[in-house]
Amino acid sequence: MKVWFNPSKAIESALSTIATETEGFGLGFEPGVRPADPRFGDYQANGVLGFAKRNKANPRQLAQRLLEAAQASDSFDPALVELSLAGPGFINFKLTSAFIWQWQLAFSKVEDFQSGAKELKHGRKVVIDYPSANTAKQAHIGHLRPMVIGQAIARLLDFCGADLIRDNHIGDWGTNFGTLIMKIKRDQIDLSQLGEDALVTLDQLYKDGSALEVEQPELRDISRNELVLLQNGDASNTALWDQIVEISKVAFEKLFVQMGVEVDITLGESFYRDKVQRIYDELSEIGLAEESDGALVVWHDEVKKFARNNERPFPFNIRKKDGASNYASTDLATVLYRLEAFQAEEIVYLTDARQQDHFQQLFLTTEKWFKAKGYAKPQMSHVYWGTILGADKKPFKTKSGESIKLQELLDEARKRAFDVVTEKNPDLDKAERVEIAESVGIGALKYADLSSNRTQDYVFSWERLLSFEGNTAPYLLYAVARINSIFRKVGVDPEAPIEGASQAETEAELALARKIMGFVTALELTLSDLRPHFLCTYLYELAGAYSSFYNADKVMVDDDAVKARRLLLCARTRTVLMTGLDLLGIKPLERM
Ligand code: ARG
Repeated sequence: MKVWFNPSKAIESALSTIATETEGFGLGFEPGVRPADPRFGDYQANGVLGFAKRNKANPRQLAQRLLEAAQASDSFDPALVELSLAGPGFINFKLTSAFIWQWQLAFSKVEDFQSGAKELKHGRKVVIDYPSANTAKQAHIGHLRPMVIGQAIARLLDFCGADLIRDNHIGDWGTNFGTLIMKIKRDQIDLSQLGEDALVTLDQLYKDGSALEVEQPELRDISRNELVLLQNGDASNTALWDQIVEISKVAFEKLFVQMGVEVDITLGESFYRDKVQRIYDELSEIGLAEESDGALVVWHDEVKKFARNNERPFPFNIRKKDGASNYASTDLATVLYRLEAFQAEEIVYLTDARQQDHFQQLFLTTEKWFKAKGYAKPQMSHVYWGTILGADKKPFKTKSGESIKLQELLDEARKRAFDVVTEKNPDLDKAERVEIAESVGIGALKYADLSSNRTQDYVFSWERLLSFEGNTAPYLLYAVARINSIFRKVGVDPEAPIEGASQAETEAELALARKIMGFVTALELTLSDLRPHFLCTYLYELAGAYSSFYNADKVMVDDDAVKARRLLLCARTRTVLMTGLDLLGIKPLERM
């Protein structure tokens, strides 16, 4: 029997194969394998119960038959997996120490883990839509989560075998350009002369322009006209727009580098401007969209809040009264483009929670439209998140009530981490402390964001996120550094194969070994609902299991075989911790 990377999946598939040939089952039986109460085993199959009920059969007898067939098959070597019957018809699976140890031997390097994990998404074409900020505005704290969560999910999907396209759906075609161009022309600003802080100036120009429109409402017509000119391809406005887009791009790329954000393509909202007409045509033709007050809208009567007869009408507005396209039409054109140009099988969107209605309407509309046209609808999901709060439980802002600039936040993270590192390790030379602070500071910022359940708000606290205790990046980074120091002491390369190890047998060794195997389940869980905090929790528990093992069992013992197996467990813990941190976008350190 081969040692499975993912025991739960392997048991599941072996059991359904066996069931098809076992009397009383046949096709259509779902084993229902899940992690079990550790007192009874590692996994439990409970599918016999529902199956027996549907077929009016005796569940215990059926389970007994299946158990015997499983024991007789090659899939379950009794030296590796013990099977037993329990309760009204459960089958329990207990992995023996021999299995656990073979697993540790078989899965040693990142590539081994990855080759197992690749089955989870096996080549599926996935488009991930992030971080999709808007041009002409400086990035602020609100951009932290799309970058951090987006990057982690992208890395995870990639690791688990998705054929991934990271598409930055940047907002570069909004109504704000009218105001901005009005103000630029009015002040006769030469954008090419703005220099380093060009985006800061643009940001300010837009704010001033909007303020001016409030004072002198007649300016709104001018702004609106500038927008219409831009949308109709006017040469001078297009030239201004090109410059604005370029300035924003340069500024964002600077942040992307610091945050480790990778994108494969940037197809902004402007890219779809000549692709929306087809949307109006197709949605009208199939009777899904209708005119309402001059606008083009889609109703979803089956959902109360989007229904026609709701007292506060809230249709999916796909074309404005003045004929202009909008966020919704652009997004519909984008789905079609992703299907036709990329053959997307799955699309993952990332934005904050305030856009839930938009995506719900987008998904419903796509569903009906694609069905009517016979297009293959990709699976679509909206990954959203809550707000970052200050200590006062209100959205985290500067003391004067402004939004915190992302660059300032990153700089402060580095500075604070540097102070912490210096306090812990005053003797390290400065260059090394700066390097450590980079990983600890930015890593801590990311980890705080990832380790809370994304759909909830979380309270931002420098003290907590930079603490070396608890579920934090410094704690996990330190765990890796500590393992590295053990290997330095023994003079062994942690990446090199470890020979002559005997099989793990103490309670702490086996508990740690089981926890290491739990990486697979953690990946599965994290992927299933795209919630990185599951992976964080797992890594934190792994570091805890490692600590218990380290306190209970000495590594540096005289018996070479015991020493080797303990070093092997250290090496595996290190690999899994480093792989996990890397998936979260955090750079592990040799020492701290
Ligand atoms: N730029 C948008 C915003 O700032 C986010 C875009 C999300 N992606 C999408 N396909 N709608 O809210």
